[in-house]
Amino acid sequence: MPALLLFVMLTACAASPQDLSGKMFTFPQETDTARVMLNISTHNLKAVTVCLRSFTDLKRIHGLFSLATPSSDNGVLIIRNIDKVDLRVNDQRVDYVVDYELNTWHSICSTWDSESGLGQLWFNGKPLVRKFTSKSQIDKPLVTLGQEQDSYGGKFDIKQSFVGMMTDVHMWNYVLSSCEIQNYVGNLNFTPGNVLNWKALTFEKTGNVLIENKQLTCH
Ligand SMILES: *[C@@H]1O[C@H](CO)[C@@H](O)[C@H](O)[C@H]1NC(C)=O
Repeated sequence: MPALLLFVMLTACAASPQDLSGKMFTFPQETDTARVMLNISTHNLKAVTVCLRSFTDLKRIHGLFSLATPSSDNGVLIIRNIDKVDLRVNDQRVDYVVDYELNTWHSICSTWDSESGLGQLWFNGKPLVRKFTSKSQIDKPLVTLGQEQDSYGGKFDIKQSFVGMMTDVHMWNYVLSSCEIQNYVGNLNFTPGNVLNWKALTFEKTGNVLIENKQLTCH
């Protein structure tokens, strides 16, 4: 009976949204298990904007945002490798060369819409080239942070895992204007994500992932 009660409480906990303002996820070690799962499978997406901030000293390849669908492991994937950030939409890859300094926060946003099929990366508030990816819509998405999905909801590779800190994850089902993206990057007023909202985030944490206060700089 107590075990059942605990299970019910944990399930209820996992399902209620949390305000993570001023917080960050810390992924403190290299594993193929530690992750945050965000189940947004109720959405069908014709357009996407994803924004997040990340801090790492990894040089090797690592996933920053992994959205898989039943038909595509890389429904929307933002993945960094040395001086490149790749954006994949429905497995179609476009590369962006960026000046990725280690051990500092970076703001990364990407946009895509199915009508034009164009994707775009914004790195620290600067727009990079708009490039063709895919015109297919995105169905039943599952998102993981910390691990890169090589199958729908699983098949994680330790060599693509994220080690570091991540914060301010938002996702919208439309393309944000450049002003809105710059407001996000500058921590100004912006409309929080209507698919994923850092201020009301429903998620499931597995393995060694901590929720800590963001370390702000003193002036
Ligand atoms: C995600 O949510 C949907 C709808 O609530 C549910 O049917 C599905 O089992 C969930 N998937 C996972 C992997 O949690």
